[in-house]
Amino acid sequence: MTWREYHELTKHSVESLKRSPHFLDWANMPDPFRHYEGVPVLDLPADPPVPETPALAVLDGFSGATSAPDGAAFLSQLLFHSAAISASKRVPSTGDRYALRVNPSSGNLHPTEFHFLTRGLKEWPDGLYHYRPSAHMAEQRALGNLEMKLPRSSAPIVFVLTSIAWREAWKYRDRAYRYCLHDMGHAWQALALAAQAIGCDSFALGHFPDDEVSQFCRLHEDEWPMIVVELRGGSIPLREPHACETVWYGEHANQISSERTAYPLIDGIHDATKLGNRPWRGISAAEPAPSGSGEIKLPSPASSWRAFGEVARMRRSALDFQGGMQSMTLAQLSAILAVTARPFFADFAAVRFVQLYLYIHRVDGLQPGLYRLWPERAGLERIKSGDQRVAAAGLSLGQELAGNACVAFSMIGDLERAARAHGDRGYRYVHFEAGAIGHRLYLAAEALGLGATGIGAFYDQEVHRYLNLTPEQGQVVYHFAIGYPVPDPRLGA
Ligand SMILES: Cc1cc2nc3c(=O)[nH]c(=O)nc-3n(C[C@H](O)[C@H](O)[C@H](O)COP(=O)(O)O)c2cc1C
Repeated sequence: MTWREYHELTKHSVESLKRSPHFLDWANMPDPFRHYEGVPVLDLPADPPVPETPALAVLDGFSGATSAPDGAAFLSQLLFHSAAISASKRVPSTGDRYALRVNPSSGNLHPTEFHFLTRGLKEWPDGLYHYRPSAHMAEQRALGNLEMKLPRSSAPIVFVLTSIAWREAWKYRDRAYRYCLHDMGHAWQALALAAQAIGCDSFALGHFPDDEVSQFCRLHEDEWPMIVVELRGGSIPLREPHACETVWYGEHANQISSERTAYPLIDGIHDATKLGNRPWRGISAAEPAPSGSGEIKLPSPASSWRAFGEVARMRRSALDFQGGMQSMTLAQLSAILAVTARPFFADFAAVRFVQLYLYIHRVDGLQPGLYRLWPERAGLERIKSGDQRVAAAGLSLGQELAGNACVAFSMIGDLERAARAHGDRGYRYVHFEAGAIGHRLYLAAEALGLGATGIGAFYDQEVHRYLNLTPEQGQVVYHFAIGYPVPDPRLGA
Protein backbone atom coordinates (compact mmCIF):
# COMPACT_ATOMS: atom_id res chain seq x y z
CA MET A 1 0.00 0.00 0.00
CA THR A 2 1.30 3.46 -0.90
CA TRP A 3 -0.32 6.85 -0.32
CA ARG A 4 -1.12 6.99 -4.05
CA GLU A 5 -3.05 3.72 -3.95
CA TYR A 6 -4.95 4.71 -0.81
CA HIS A 7 -5.81 8.14 -2.17
CA GLU A 8 -6.93 6.75 -5.53
CA LEU A 9 -9.04 4.00 -3.94
CA THR A 10 -10.82 6.43 -1.60
CA LYS A 11 -11.86 8.99 -4.18
CA HIS A 12 -15.57 9.70 -4.31
CA SER A 13 -17.34 9.50 -7.66
CA VAL A 14 -21.01 9.11 -8.55
CA GLU A 15 -20.24 5.50 -9.52
CA SER A 16 -18.27 4.68 -6.35
CA LEU A 17 -21.12 5.92 -4.15
CA LYS A 18 -23.71 3.94 -6.14
CA ARG A 19 -21.52 0.84 -6.18
CA SER A 20 -21.24 0.52 -2.43
CA PRO A 21 -24.13 1.94 -0.40
CA HIS A 22 -23.52 1.88 3.36
CA PHE A 23 -25.96 1.51 6.25
CA LEU A 24 -24.96 2.60 9.71
CA ASP A 25 -24.98 -0.07 12.41
CA TRP A 26 -26.29 2.10 15.23
CA ALA A 27 -26.17 -0.73 17.78
CA ASN A 28 -22.41 -0.93 17.26
CA MET A 29 -21.64 2.81 17.09
CA PRO A 30 -18.24 3.42 18.74
CA ASP A 31 -18.28 5.32 22.03
CA PRO A 32 -16.91 8.82 21.31
CA PHE A 33 -15.29 8.88 24.77
CA ARG A 34 -12.26 6.85 25.81
CA HIS A 35 -11.83 6.16 29.53
CA TYR A 36 -9.08 4.47 31.46
CA GLU A 37 -10.85 2.38 34.01
CA GLY A 38 -9.67 2.34 37.61
CA VAL A 39 -7.08 5.15 37.36
CA PRO A 40 -7.00 8.18 39.69
CA VAL A 41 -8.95 11.08 38.22
CA LEU A 42 -7.83 14.66 38.90
CA ASP A 43 -10.29 17.55 38.90
CA LEU A 44 -9.72 20.43 36.54
CA PRO A 45 -11.38 23.50 38.11
CA ALA A 46 -14.79 24.26 36.56
CA ASP A 47 -15.51 27.47 34.62
CA PRO A 48 -11.95 28.64 33.99
CA PRO A 49 -11.56 32.29 32.96
CA VAL A 50 -12.11 33.27 29.33
CA PRO A 51 -8.83 34.16 27.53
CA GLU A 52 -9.63 37.78 26.66
CA THR A 53 -7.13 38.50 23.87
CA PRO A 54 -9.12 39.02 20.66
CA ALA A 55 -9.33 35.86 18.59
CA LEU A 56 -8.17 37.64 15.44
CA ALA A 57 -5.11 38.93 17.31
CA VAL A 58 -4.26 35.40 18.46
CA LEU A 59 -4.74 34.14 14.89
CA ASP A 60 -2.48 36.98 13.79
CA GLY A 61 0.32 35.73 16.06
CA PHE A 62 -0.18 37.74 19.29
CA SER A 63 0.10 35.96 22.63
CA GLY A 64 -2.31 36.41 25.51
CA ALA A 65 -1.80 35.84 29.22
CA THR A 66 -3.24 33.87 32.11
CA SER A 67 -3.55 34.36 35.84
CA ALA A 68 -3.67 30.59 36.46
CA PRO A 69 -1.80 30.11 39.78
CA ASP A 70 -1.15 26.36 39.47
CA GLY A 71 -1.05 23.39 37.13
CA ALA A 72 -4.70 22.41 37.56
CA ALA A 73 -5.98 25.92 36.77
CA PHE A 74 -3.64 26.23 33.79
CA LEU A 75 -4.55 22.85 32.29
CA SER A 76 -8.24 23.53 32.89
CA GLN A 77 -8.12 26.83 31.01
CA LEU A 78 -6.09 25.29 28.19
CA LEU A 79 -8.30 22.23 27.68
CA PHE A 80 -11.59 24.07 28.22
CA HIS A 81 -10.70 26.24 25.22
CA SER A 82 -9.27 23.53 22.96
CA ALA A 83 -10.84 20.10 23.56
CA ALA A 84 -13.77 20.34 25.99
CA ILE A 85 -17.48 19.90 25.40
CA SER A 86 -18.87 23.30 24.44
CA ALA A 87 -22.51 22.69 23.41
CA SER A 88 -25.04 19.97 22.79
CA LYS A 89 -27.68 19.09 20.23
CA ARG A 90 -31.06 17.46 20.71
CA VAL A 91 -32.16 14.56 18.53
CA PRO A 92 -35.67 15.70 17.45
CA SER A 93 -37.13 12.16 17.26
CA THR A 94 -36.04 11.03 20.75
CA GLY A 95 -35.26 14.22 22.66
CA ASP A 96 -31.82 12.77 23.58
CA ARG A 97 -28.89 15.18 23.64
CA TYR A 98 -25.38 14.60 22.32
CA ALA A 99 -22.21 16.58 22.96
CA LEU A 100 -20.33 18.95 20.65
CA ARG A 101 -16.77 19.99 21.36
CA VAL A 102 -14.45 22.96 20.90
CA ASN A 103 -12.56 21.04 18.19
CA PRO A 104 -14.76 20.02 15.24
CA SER A 105 -14.88 16.51 13.85
CA SER A 106 -16.17 14.94 10.68
CA GLY A 107 -19.58 13.50 11.51
CA ASN A 108 -19.01 14.59 15.16
CA LEU A 109 -17.38 11.17 15.67
CA HIS A 110 -14.23 12.52 17.36
CA PRO A 111 -11.42 10.09 16.60
CA THR A 112 -8.88 12.37 18.34
CA GLU A 113 -7.74 11.72 21.94
CA PHE A 114 -5.61 14.11 24.01
CA HIS A 115 -2.87 12.57 26.20
CA PHE A 116 -0.32 14.80 27.96
CA LEU A 117 2.86 14.53 29.90
CA THR A 118 3.63 17.12 32.59
CA ARG A 119 6.91 17.98 34.32
CA GLY A 120 7.35 20.47 37.16
CA LEU A 121 3.89 22.09 37.12
CA LYS A 122 3.03 23.87 40.35
CA GLU A 123 0.88 21.78 42.71
CA TRP A 124 0.33 19.18 40.01
CA PRO A 125 2.01 15.75 40.08
CA ASP A 126 4.40 14.92 37.23
CA GLY A 127 3.04 12.14 35.08
CA LEU A 128 1.15 11.04 32.00
CA TYR A 129 -2.52 11.98 31.73
CA HIS A 130 -5.46 11.44 29.43
CA TYR A 131 -8.06 14.17 29.06
CA ARG A 132 -11.63 13.06 29.78
CA PRO A 133 -13.79 15.65 27.96
CA SER A 134 -17.07 14.13 29.16
CA ALA A 135 -16.26 15.32 32.70
CA HIS A 136 -13.47 17.90 32.09
CA MET A 137 -11.06 15.87 34.20
CA ALA A 138 -7.58 14.41 33.82
CA GLU A 139 -7.10 10.65 34.11
CA GLN A 140 -3.75 9.94 35.71
CA ARG A 141 -2.28 7.06 33.75
CA ALA A 142 1.20 7.25 35.26
CA LEU A 143 2.83 9.21 38.03
CA GLY A 144 6.47 10.31 38.15
CA ASN A 145 9.25 11.34 35.81
CA LEU A 146 8.69 9.93 32.36
CA GLU A 147 11.22 10.71 29.65
CA MET A 148 9.93 10.64 26.10
CA LYS A 149 12.99 10.26 23.93
CA LEU A 150 12.14 12.69 21.20
CA PRO A 151 14.24 15.63 20.05
CA ARG A 152 13.28 18.81 21.96
CA SER A 153 10.82 16.98 24.19
CA SER A 154 11.99 18.49 27.49
CA ALA A 155 9.06 20.94 27.60
CA PRO A 156 7.00 21.11 30.83
CA ILE A 157 3.86 20.04 28.95
CA VAL A 158 3.92 17.63 26.00
CA PHE A 159 0.69 16.54 24.34
CA VAL A 160 0.41 13.33 22.35
CA LEU A 161 -2.62 13.55 20.07
CA THR A 162 -3.88 10.18 18.87
CA SER A 163 -6.52 8.89 16.45
CA ILE A 164 -8.94 6.02 16.94
CA ALA A 165 -9.66 5.43 13.27
CA TRP A 166 -12.47 2.92 13.87
CA ARG A 167 -14.70 5.67 15.29
CA GLU A 168 -14.55 7.43 11.96
CA ALA A 169 -14.48 4.27 9.80
CA TRP A 170 -17.77 3.10 11.36
CA LYS A 171 -19.45 5.78 9.21
CA TYR A 172 -17.01 6.75 6.48
CA ARG A 173 -15.33 3.38 5.87
CA ASP A 174 -12.06 3.47 3.90
CA ARG A 175 -12.11 7.22 3.36
CA ALA A 176 -12.10 7.71 7.15
CA TYR A 177 -8.29 7.88 7.44
CA ARG A 178 -8.36 11.16 5.51
CA TYR A 179 -10.89 12.54 8.01
CA CYS A 180 -8.84 11.39 10.99
CA LEU A 181 -5.92 13.40 9.57
CA HIS A 182 -8.09 16.49 9.00
CA ASP A 183 -9.52 16.22 12.51
CA MET A 184 -5.99 15.94 13.82
CA GLY A 185 -5.04 19.17 12.03
CA HIS A 186 -8.05 20.89 13.63
CA ALA A 187 -7.22 19.51 17.09
CA TRP A 188 -3.57 20.59 16.81
CA GLN A 189 -4.58 24.16 15.92
CA ALA A 190 -7.29 24.22 18.59
CA LEU A 191 -4.59 23.33 21.13
CA ALA A 192 -1.84 25.56 19.71
CA LEU A 193 -4.09 28.63 19.53
CA ALA A 194 -5.59 28.10 23.00
CA ALA A 195 -2.02 27.78 24.34
CA GLN A 196 -1.02 31.00 22.59
CA ALA A 197 -4.11 32.76 23.97
CA ILE A 198 -2.80 32.02 27.48
CA GLY A 199 0.80 32.96 26.78
CA CYS A 200 2.43 29.72 25.62
CA ASP A 201 4.47 28.81 22.56
CA SER A 202 3.78 25.49 20.93
CA PHE A 203 5.74 23.35 18.52
CA ALA A 204 4.26 20.30 16.81
CA LEU A 205 6.17 17.20 15.77
CA GLY A 206 4.75 15.01 13.07
CA HIS A 207 8.04 13.24 12.41
CA PHE A 208 8.57 10.69 15.18
CA PRO A 209 8.95 6.91 15.44
CA ASP A 210 5.30 5.82 15.81
CA ASP A 211 5.84 2.55 17.61
CA GLU A 212 8.16 4.07 20.20
CA VAL A 213 5.63 6.78 21.05
CA SER A 214 2.79 4.20 21.18
CA GLN A 215 4.83 2.02 23.54
CA PHE A 216 5.89 4.99 25.64
CA CYS A 217 2.23 6.01 26.14
CA ARG A 218 1.09 2.36 26.40
CA LEU A 219 -1.69 3.09 23.94
CA HIS A 220 -4.46 0.60 23.25
CA GLU A 221 -3.90 -1.05 19.87
CA ASP A 222 -6.94 0.77 18.36
CA GLU A 223 -5.27 4.15 19.01
CA TRP A 224 -2.43 5.67 16.97
CA PRO A 225 -0.18 8.64 17.82
CA MET A 226 -0.30 11.31 15.11
CA ILE A 227 1.07 14.62 16.43
CA VAL A 228 3.19 15.49 19.47
CA VAL A 229 2.78 19.10 20.68
CA GLU A 230 5.23 20.69 23.10
CA LEU A 231 4.20 23.71 25.16
CA ARG A 232 6.61 26.16 26.75
CA GLY A 233 6.38 29.68 28.06
CA GLY A 234 6.56 31.97 31.05
CA SER A 235 2.84 31.71 31.72
CA ILE A 236 3.04 28.03 32.74
CA PRO A 237 3.05 27.92 36.58
CA LEU A 238 6.18 25.94 37.47
CA ARG A 239 7.89 24.63 40.64
CA GLU A 240 11.32 23.12 41.15
CA PRO A 241 11.38 19.70 39.48
CA HIS A 242 11.96 16.76 41.81
CA ALA A 243 12.86 13.17 41.09
CA CYS A 244 10.06 10.70 41.54
CA GLU A 245 9.80 7.05 40.60
CA THR A 246 7.33 6.13 37.87
CA VAL A 247 4.18 4.26 38.82
CA TRP A 248 1.66 3.14 36.19
CA TYR A 249 -2.00 2.97 37.16
CA GLY A 250 -3.83 0.30 35.18
CA GLU A 251 -3.70 0.39 31.42
CA HIS A 252 -7.23 -0.70 30.84
CA ALA A 253 -8.79 1.45 28.15
CA ASN A 254 -12.52 1.02 27.58
CA GLN A 255 -13.65 -1.01 24.58
CA ILE A 256 -15.44 1.51 22.37
CA SER A 257 -17.83 -0.91 20.61
CA SER A 258 -18.72 -4.58 20.87
CA GLU A 259 -17.38 -5.35 17.40
CA ARG A 260 -14.85 -3.73 15.13
CA THR A 261 -15.09 -4.04 11.36
CA ALA A 262 -11.69 -4.49 9.73
CA TYR A 263 -10.62 -1.85 7.21
CA PRO A 264 -7.41 -3.23 5.67
CA LEU A 265 -7.00 -0.14 3.50
CA ILE A 266 -6.83 2.05 6.61
CA ASP A 267 -4.37 -0.28 8.33
CA GLY A 268 -2.39 -0.28 5.07
CA ILE A 269 -2.12 3.50 4.71
CA HIS A 270 -1.34 3.88 8.39
CA ASP A 271 1.50 1.35 8.13
CA ALA A 272 2.76 2.96 4.93
CA THR A 273 2.95 6.37 6.63
CA LYS A 274 4.67 5.10 9.80
CA LEU A 275 8.32 5.86 10.54
CA GLY A 276 8.61 3.11 13.10
CA ASN A 277 10.38 0.44 11.11
CA ARG A 278 13.02 2.57 9.45
CA PRO A 279 16.25 3.89 10.95
CA TRP A 280 15.60 7.22 12.61
CA ARG A 281 16.62 10.28 10.66
CA GLY A 282 15.45 13.85 11.10
CA ILE A 283 12.88 15.48 8.90
CA SER A 284 14.08 16.57 5.47
CA ALA A 285 13.53 19.93 3.84
CA ALA A 286 10.80 20.18 1.23
CA GLU A 287 11.04 22.14 -2.02
CA PRO A 288 9.50 25.59 -1.63
CA ALA A 289 5.87 26.11 -2.57
CA PRO A 290 5.22 27.70 -5.97
CA SER A 291 4.66 31.42 -5.64
CA GLY A 292 2.77 33.92 -7.73
CA SER A 293 0.64 36.98 -7.42
CA GLY A 294 -2.95 37.64 -8.33
CA GLU A 295 -4.17 40.71 -10.18
CA ILE A 296 -6.62 41.50 -7.35
CA LYS A 297 -4.94 42.87 -4.24
CA LEU A 298 -6.79 42.17 -1.03
CA PRO A 299 -7.67 45.24 1.10
CA SER A 300 -6.78 45.76 4.77
CA PRO A 301 -8.38 43.05 6.84
CA ALA A 302 -11.57 43.73 8.83
CA SER A 303 -11.12 43.79 12.60
CA SER A 304 -12.95 42.11 15.46
CA TRP A 305 -12.46 42.41 19.21
CA ARG A 306 -14.29 39.24 20.21
CA ALA A 307 -12.30 37.42 22.89
CA PHE A 308 -10.47 34.24 21.91
CA GLY A 309 -12.13 32.20 24.66
CA GLU A 310 -15.61 33.16 23.57
CA VAL A 311 -14.90 32.55 19.88
CA ALA A 312 -13.26 29.16 20.48
CA ARG A 313 -16.21 27.90 22.51
CA MET A 314 -18.96 29.46 20.36
CA ARG A 315 -17.54 28.08 17.09
CA ARG A 316 -20.01 25.72 15.44
CA SER A 317 -20.38 24.12 12.04
CA ALA A 318 -23.26 25.59 10.08
CA LEU A 319 -25.65 22.92 8.81
CA ASP A 320 -26.51 25.22 5.94
CA PHE A 321 -26.10 28.88 5.03
CA GLN A 322 -28.69 31.50 4.21
CA GLY A 323 -28.57 31.90 0.45
CA GLY A 324 -30.27 35.06 -0.80
CA MET A 325 -28.60 38.41 -1.21
CA GLN A 326 -26.63 39.04 2.00
CA SER A 327 -22.96 39.27 1.18
CA MET A 328 -19.77 39.46 3.18
CA THR A 329 -17.28 42.29 2.71
CA LEU A 330 -13.98 42.02 0.93
CA ALA A 331 -12.31 43.24 4.14
CA GLN A 332 -13.85 40.28 6.00
CA LEU A 333 -12.60 37.90 3.32
CA SER A 334 -9.20 39.56 3.52
CA ALA A 335 -9.06 38.98 7.32
CA ILE A 336 -10.08 35.34 6.89
CA LEU A 337 -7.48 34.69 4.19
CA ALA A 338 -4.75 36.51 6.11
CA VAL A 339 -4.96 34.09 9.05
CA THR A 340 -4.53 31.10 6.75
CA ALA A 341 -1.19 32.50 5.62
CA ARG A 342 0.31 32.90 9.12
CA PRO A 343 3.12 30.42 9.85
CA PHE A 344 2.53 27.08 11.55
CA PHE A 345 4.97 26.01 14.22
CA ALA A 346 5.65 22.39 13.33
CA ASP A 347 8.53 20.29 12.02
CA PHE A 348 6.38 19.31 9.00
CA ALA A 349 5.10 22.78 8.12
CA ALA A 350 8.22 24.82 7.36
CA VAL A 351 7.01 24.95 3.76
CA ARG A 352 3.36 24.75 2.79
CA PHE A 353 1.71 22.15 0.60
CA VAL A 354 -1.87 23.44 0.47
CA GLN A 355 -3.18 26.11 -1.86
CA LEU A 356 -6.64 27.67 -1.64
CA TYR A 357 -9.10 27.98 -4.53
CA LEU A 358 -12.17 30.10 -3.82
CA TYR A 359 -15.68 29.84 -5.26
CA ILE A 360 -16.85 33.41 -4.70
CA HIS A 361 -20.64 33.64 -4.51
CA ARG A 362 -21.41 36.84 -2.57
CA VAL A 363 -18.49 39.05 -1.56
CA ASP A 364 -18.90 42.83 -1.96
CA GLY A 365 -16.54 44.22 -4.56
CA LEU A 366 -15.61 40.83 -6.04
CA GLN A 367 -17.37 39.38 -9.06
CA PRO A 368 -18.71 35.87 -8.65
CA GLY A 369 -16.14 33.46 -10.00
CA LEU A 370 -13.42 30.98 -9.26
CA TYR A 371 -10.20 32.44 -7.81
CA ARG A 372 -6.83 31.21 -6.60
CA LEU A 373 -5.17 32.75 -3.53
CA TRP A 374 -1.50 33.71 -3.69
CA PRO A 375 -0.86 34.30 0.01
CA GLU A 376 2.65 35.82 -0.09
CA ARG A 377 1.38 38.89 -1.93
CA ALA A 378 -2.16 38.79 -0.51
CA GLY A 379 -3.55 38.59 -4.04
CA LEU A 380 -6.32 36.72 -5.82
CA GLU A 381 -6.07 35.44 -9.37
CA ARG A 382 -9.35 35.05 -11.25
CA ILE A 383 -9.56 31.70 -13.01
CA LYS A 384 -13.22 31.64 -14.11
CA SER A 385 -15.96 34.25 -14.10
CA GLY A 386 -19.61 33.68 -13.41
CA ASP A 387 -21.92 32.07 -10.88
CA GLN A 388 -20.20 29.19 -9.05
CA ARG A 389 -23.04 28.15 -6.74
CA VAL A 390 -24.18 25.07 -8.60
CA ALA A 391 -20.59 23.98 -9.24
CA ALA A 392 -19.48 24.41 -5.61
CA ALA A 393 -22.48 22.47 -4.25
CA GLY A 394 -22.27 19.79 -6.96
CA LEU A 395 -18.55 19.22 -6.43
CA SER A 396 -19.15 18.97 -2.65
CA LEU A 397 -21.23 15.83 -3.19
CA GLY A 398 -24.36 17.88 -3.83
CA GLN A 399 -24.26 19.54 -0.39
CA GLU A 400 -26.19 22.77 -0.79
CA LEU A 401 -24.29 24.56 1.95
CA ALA A 402 -21.33 25.01 -0.42
CA GLY A 403 -23.61 26.92 -2.82
CA ASN A 404 -25.54 28.89 -0.18
CA ALA A 405 -22.36 30.15 1.52
CA CYS A 406 -20.79 33.50 0.57
CA VAL A 407 -17.56 31.70 -0.32
CA ALA A 408 -16.60 28.05 -0.67
CA PHE A 409 -13.08 26.63 -0.88
CA SER A 410 -11.21 23.75 -2.47
CA MET A 411 -7.93 23.08 -0.67
CA ILE A 412 -5.44 21.68 -3.17
CA GLY A 413 -2.62 19.67 -1.62
CA ASP A 414 0.64 19.13 -3.42
CA LEU A 415 0.82 15.47 -2.44
CA GLU A 416 3.63 14.70 -4.88
CA ARG A 417 5.94 17.41 -3.49
CA ALA A 418 5.15 16.25 0.05
CA ALA A 419 6.01 12.67 -0.96
CA ARG A 420 9.29 13.78 -2.56
CA ALA A 421 10.31 15.35 0.75
CA HIS A 422 8.83 12.95 3.28
CA GLY A 423 7.89 9.74 1.47
CA ASP A 424 4.46 8.32 2.31
CA ARG A 425 4.57 10.19 5.64
CA GLY A 426 4.03 13.38 3.64
CA TYR A 427 0.43 12.23 3.04
CA ARG A 428 -0.30 12.87 6.73
CA TYR A 429 1.38 16.27 6.70
CA VAL A 430 -0.66 17.63 3.79
CA HIS A 431 -3.91 16.62 5.52
CA PHE A 432 -2.75 18.02 8.89
CA GLU A 433 -2.07 21.32 7.13
CA ALA A 434 -5.50 21.30 5.47
CA GLY A 435 -7.21 20.64 8.82
CA ALA A 436 -5.15 23.34 10.50
CA ILE A 437 -6.07 25.89 7.82
CA GLY A 438 -9.69 24.79 8.25
CA HIS A 439 -9.50 25.48 11.97
CA ARG A 440 -8.21 28.98 11.41
CA LEU A 441 -11.01 29.55 8.89
CA TYR A 442 -13.59 28.44 11.48
CA LEU A 443 -12.26 30.78 14.17
CA ALA A 444 -11.80 33.79 11.89
CA ALA A 445 -15.33 33.37 10.50
CA GLU A 446 -16.78 33.12 14.01
CA ALA A 447 -14.82 36.18 15.18
CA LEU A 448 -16.25 38.20 12.27
CA GLY A 449 -19.87 37.19 12.93
CA LEU A 450 -20.00 34.58 10.17
CA GLY A 451 -20.25 30.79 10.28
CA ALA A 452 -18.23 28.04 8.63
CA THR A 453 -18.29 24.32 7.87
CA GLY A 454 -15.53 21.90 6.95
CA ILE A 455 -16.50 19.63 4.06
CA GLY A 456 -14.68 16.31 3.73
CA ALA A 457 -17.02 14.92 1.06
CA PHE A 458 -16.31 15.93 -2.54
CA TYR A 459 -16.00 14.32 -5.97
CA ASP A 460 -12.21 14.27 -6.26
CA GLN A 461 -11.71 13.93 -10.01
CA GLU A 462 -14.59 16.28 -10.81
CA VAL A 463 -12.90 18.95 -8.72
CA HIS A 464 -9.62 18.43 -10.60
CA ARG A 465 -11.41 18.70 -13.94
CA TYR A 466 -13.34 21.79 -12.89
CA LEU A 467 -10.22 23.55 -11.60
CA ASN A 468 -8.26 22.41 -14.64
CA LEU A 469 -5.52 20.99 -12.43
CA THR A 470 -2.60 19.07 -13.81
CA PRO A 471 -1.36 16.28 -11.50
CA GLU A 472 1.76 18.38 -10.70
CA GLN A 473 -0.48 21.13 -9.32
CA GLY A 474 -1.88 18.83 -6.66
CA GLN A 475 -5.09 17.12 -5.67
CA VAL A 476 -8.12 18.21 -3.70
CA VAL A 477 -7.81 17.32 -0.02
CA TYR A 478 -10.53 19.35 1.76
CA HIS A 479 -13.48 21.65 1.06
CA PHE A 480 -14.80 24.45 3.20
CA ALA A 481 -17.63 26.99 3.22
CA ILE A 482 -18.17 30.33 4.99
CA GLY A 483 -21.30 32.47 5.11
CA TYR A 484 -24.33 33.37 7.22
CA PRO A 485 -25.48 30.24 9.05
CA VAL A 486 -29.08 29.07 9.12
CA PRO A 487 -30.00 28.88 12.85
CA ASP A 488 -30.03 25.31 14.16
CA PRO A 489 -33.01 24.77 16.52
CA ARG A 490 -31.40 21.58 17.91
CA LEU A 491 -28.48 23.51 19.42
CA GLY A 492 -28.32 24.04 23.21
CA ALA A 493 -25.81 24.85 25.90
C1 LIG B 1 -12.77 17.06 8.51
C2 LIG B 1 -14.21 17.48 8.58
C3 LIG B 1 -15.08 17.17 7.55
C4 LIG B 1 -16.41 17.57 7.60
N1 LIG B 1 -17.24 17.30 6.55
C5 LIG B 1 -18.52 17.75 6.55
C6 LIG B 1 -19.36 17.58 5.40
O1 LIG B 1 -18.94 17.03 4.38
N2 LIG B 1 -20.62 18.09 5.48
C7 LIG B 1 -21.11 18.74 6.59
O2 LIG B 1 -22.26 19.18 6.60
N3 LIG B 1 -20.32 18.90 7.70
C8 LIG B 1 -19.05 18.44 7.69
N4 LIG B 1 -18.23 18.65 8.78
C9 LIG B 1 -18.74 19.31 9.98
C10 LIG B 1 -19.00 18.28 11.10
O3 LIG B 1 -20.16 17.55 10.82
C11 LIG B 1 -19.07 19.01 12.46
O4 LIG B 1 -17.78 19.46 12.77
C12 LIG B 1 -19.56 18.08 13.55
O5 LIG B 1 -20.90 17.74 13.36
C13 LIG B 1 -19.41 18.72 14.92
O6 LIG B 1 -20.08 19.95 14.97
P1 LIG B 1 -19.32 21.28 15.40
O7 LIG B 1 -18.31 21.57 14.32
O8 LIG B 1 -20.42 22.31 15.47
O9 LIG B 1 -18.65 21.01 16.70
C14 LIG B 1 -16.90 18.27 8.74
C15 LIG B 1 -16.01 18.58 9.77
C16 LIG B 1 -14.69 18.20 9.70
C17 LIG B 1 -13.75 18.57 10.82
